[in-house]
Amino acid sequence: MRIFLGGGSLRILVTGGAGFIGSHLCDYLINQGHDVLCVDNLFSGSKDNIRHLLDHSYFEFIRHDISQPFFAEVDQIYHLACPASPVHYQYNPIKTIKTNVMGTINMLGLAKRIRSRILLASTSEVYGNPSVHPQQEAYWGNVNPIGIRSCYDEGKRVAETLMMDYHRQNGVDIKIVRIFNTYGPRMAINDGRVISNFIVQALRGENLTVYGDGTQTRSFCYVSDLVEGMVRMVGTDNIFTGPVNLGNPTESTILEIAEKVLALTESKSRIVFKPLPLDDPDRRCPDITTARNRLSWQPKVPLHEGLEEVIGYFKEKLNAKPQPQPESLG
Ligand SMILES: NC(=O)c1ccc[n+]([C@@H]2O[C@H](COP(=O)([O-])OP(=O)(O)OC[C@H]3O[C@@H](n4cnc5c(N)ncnc54)[C@H](O)[C@@H]3O)[C@@H](O)[C@H]2O)c1
Repeated sequence: MRIFLGGGSLRILVTGGAGFIGSHLCDYLINQGHDVLCVDNLFSGSKDNIRHLLDHSYFEFIRHDISQPFFAEVDQIYHLACPASPVHYQYNPIKTIKTNVMGTINMLGLAKRIRSRILLASTSEVYGNPSVHPQQEAYWGNVNPIGIRSCYDEGKRVAETLMMDYHRQNGVDIKIVRIFNTYGPRMAINDGRVISNFIVQALRGENLTVYGDGTQTRSFCYVSDLVEGMVRMVGTDNIFTGPVNLGNPTESTILEIAEKVLALTESKSRIVFKPLPLDDPDRRCPDITTARNRLSWQPKVPLHEGLEEVIGYFKEKLNAKPQPQPESLG
């Protein structure tokens, strides 16, 4: 059921809306004049990410764990709730699976009941350690089902399966996007993701930790580009379900990122190497042909521009005074 509010705005539920990506999505939707209901249990998200929205008359926050049933009358659901960084999703892997499986069933049950469109924020991790590059949506992946990342990778794969089965069996109007590494302000300081790690280490004058030899590549998409892709996906006609890759196809080695961060922060920190964690993929690069063709979407923000934004954010967050550099100690 579509409930039109004044000015053609929609009621939109964002699960995981207090997280890094979810909070930017809430900002975007509010700015478009929509009425946003943010549901989050604050496991890896924070009220700080949505504090500026809490007094907004079109914004509502509900603290709720989506592995428990939830009901609301909305027109669209963006389903993002799930811890995204290994530190967070491996903290309680069983909970991660519950969030992905029971949480997605709850959201699909809701979408079915109220006949709303639902978008799942899936992940490039469904490709596991891929044997084809770049990864197209048709690639089925190479995932370890019993490893320490499986709660997340396999959890998201089941979430995608659930989306497709609710669509085929019950005609639920679904959209699936597979998000590749995304960065931007409001990434958590201590979540162990490579960009936040490097920036925080550089600003604190600590060594930058590169796992492995640093030749493994990643492609990083700035959060505003990603949010635009998600919104475009929800705006497509109802025959198109996806999955669609959303990410930046420009690959950089981890070492290149570390060097870029050192240059932009003007830090004198050094780069140190540590053993690669288990199941860490060597390469990850999206083929975004589908997004280009179906959504007329491609990332716009170049890496150095995005990095500058995040560095500014973390400087403020750390209240960064000039840090003592290793050379000047003692
Ligand atoms: N950031 C990336 O690079 C990336 C890449 C691929 C996919 N994704 C997906 O995008 C989504 C958002 O990721 P993010 O980077 O913003 O992560 P995040 O951890 O910052 O945000 C996830 C949010 O979900 C909330 N949450 C977790 N479990 C919940 C539960 N059971 N009930 C209610 N809320 C719950 C958390 O508190 C948090 O606010 C996730 O689904 C993630 O898998 C992110």
